[in-house]
Amino acid sequence: MVRSSPILTKFASILIFGSLILFLDLQVSAQVKVQLSVDTFKPGPKINRNIFGQFAEHLGYGVYEGIWVGPDSTIPNTRGIRNDVVAALKVLRVPNVRWPGGCFADEYHWRKGIGSRAVTLNPNWGGVVEPNTFGTHEFMDFIDQIGSEAYLSVNVGSGTPQEAAEWLEYLTTSQPTTLAKERAANGHPPPYKIPMLGIGNESWDCGGNMTPEYYLRQLTIYSRFVRNFNPTQQGNDQMQKIAVGPGGGEARWTEWTDTIMKAWEKRQWSWDMQGLSMHNYTVINWENKFASVGFAEKEYAQILKETLKMEDLVTTHSAIMDKYDPAKKIALVVDEWGSWYAPLPSSNPGFLVQQNSIRDAILAALNLNIFARHAERVRGANIAQMINVLQAMIMTDKEKMVLTPTYHVFKMYVPFQDATFIPVTFNPGAYRNGDIILPRIDAIAAKDATGKLWLELTNVDPNNIADIEVNVSGINANTASGETLTAPRVDSVNTFEAPNTVTPKPITAKIQNGKLTIKLDPKSVTVISLGNAK
Ligand code: AHR
Repeated sequence: MVRSSPILTKFASILIFGSLILFLDLQVSAQVKVQLSVDTFKPGPKINRNIFGQFAEHLGYGVYEGIWVGPDSTIPNTRGIRNDVVAALKVLRVPNVRWPGGCFADEYHWRKGIGSRAVTLNPNWGGVVEPNTFGTHEFMDFIDQIGSEAYLSVNVGSGTPQEAAEWLEYLTTSQPTTLAKERAANGHPPPYKIPMLGIGNESWDCGGNMTPEYYLRQLTIYSRFVRNFNPTQQGNDQMQKIAVGPGGGEARWTEWTDTIMKAWEKRQWSWDMQGLSMHNYTVINWENKFASVGFAEKEYAQILKETLKMEDLVTTHSAIMDKYDPAKKIALVVDEWGSWYAPLPSSNPGFLVQQNSIRDAILAALNLNIFARHAERVRGANIAQMINVLQAMIMTDKEKMVLTPTYHVFKMYVPFQDATFIPVTFNPGAYRNGDIILPRIDAIAAKDATGKLWLELTNVDPNNIADIEVNVSGINANTASGETLTAPRVDSVNTFEAPNTVTPKPITAKIQNGKLTIKLDPKSVTVISLGNAK
C-alpha cells in the first residue's frame, strides 16, 4: 500500500506558511477523489479464518449470564446456554473461541468444572465466587452450538504438566482409559477435538511473572507431555500449540520473542510449537483510561492513532520470527486485542464492562486489515472479549441482548474468512484532528472460494464523505453491492433501548469503464462484492 501521501509529504513546506494554509490544504484533501487499484494478478496468501477468533474468559458477565444461564433459567436456553446469544454468534461463523482465560486460565483447575462442581473464587476478576457450573463439557457444548472450535488455555502458572496432560487425555483419547470412561460417564463418549492449545497466558505477568528463560523451560515440558490423542488430529491436522509471546514492542518483549524463537530454531525432536501469541490492547493511559461513552472527536482520533500501533508491533515481532523461521512455520497469534476503556460508572471495576461505539467498529476494521496484510505470519487473533467484557460483540442484561457496532464489523467481514488476499494500492490521504494525522482511508481486498472479489473500505474521517474510485479493469463485473456501517456521532452506541443506532445499511456502487465509484460516509466501514447485474 502506498502510505506516503503527497499531502503528508507536503506538510513540511506547508508549515512554513502557517496554519491557515494547512487548514485549506486539508479541506481540499477531503474533497479529492481517492484512487485505488486492485491487483488480481498478484494474489497473496490465504487470510486465515482464525484471525476472526473470539475470547471468552471467566470474567464478570462474560461467561455467567453472557453465555451460561443454567437449564432452569427463564431465559430461553439449550442445556443452560442462552439461545439468543447462540443465534447471534452463529451468524459470525466464529472460527475458534479461546477459553477459560486470560489470567483466569492460570488459576483454573479443570476437575472443579466436571461432575459434581466445586465452588471456588475468581481472585483476578472482582474476587467473586466461581460456581464452576460452566466447565469443560459446557464449553464444548457451547462451541458446538455456535459451530466453532476450541482454543483451550492450559494452566502453567499454578497448575502442573500432569494436570494439563490429564485434561487433554480426558478430552481427546478414544481408548478406554479411566479418564475416557469418566468423560463418557459425564455425557460425552466420543473424544473431543481440540485444534488449538495455549500453553499459559501472559506468563510474564499475571501468569506467573516468569522470565523468558523460565517460561521456555515450562514450554518445552508442557509441549512434550500435553498430548492430543484424538485419532483424527494426528499428522497434518495436529493440534496447534501456542506459546506465550510478547505483550508490547519494548526491549522486554523483543527479548521474549527472540528467546522463544531462538530456542525453537535449535529445538530437539522432543518438543515443538506451532504458534506464538501476542497481546496488544488499545489503551492510552492504564492509570486513567479513556471513556467508552460521551467522548469527543479528539478522543476518537487519539484512540484510532493508538490502535494503528498494531502495525509496528506485528512488523517488529514478525521480523524477529523471520530471523529464526524464514519459512513462516510458526504463526503469530494475536490472541488478545481490542479497546480497553474505563469501566462504566456503577459497574464492578473488576468486570471490565464498557460500551462499544462506531469508534470501536472502525478500530476493529483497522486491526483486521493489519492482520490481513500480514496474513502470511498472522494466522490467528482473538478479540477481547466475546460478550459483556471489553470490546464485546454482544452485551446482555438479564434477558435483554444487544449487538454492538463491533459485532456488525465481524459479520460484514465473514466473506474474508479463508479468502485469498488481493493487493490494493492507494494513497490514503490524511485526516487531521489537532496535531493528530491519520490515514484517511483504509482498504483490503480478497477473493473467496467461488472467485468473487470482496472489497473493504474504511473512511476514518468523521466529518467528510470520501469519494472513492477503484480501478477494477480486467475484472468481469459491472456492479458492486454490500453493506456500510456508520453512525450519527463519533460516540454513537447501541443500547437495549435503541439497539439499531449503529447498524449496517445496504450500499451499491457503479462500475463503468473498469472504474468502480462509491461514496463512503464519514466514519464508516463498508464491505462490497463485485458482480454482474443481469
Ligand atoms: O482480557 C482481560 C485480561 O487482559 C486477560 O485476562 C489477560 O490475559 C490480559 O491482561
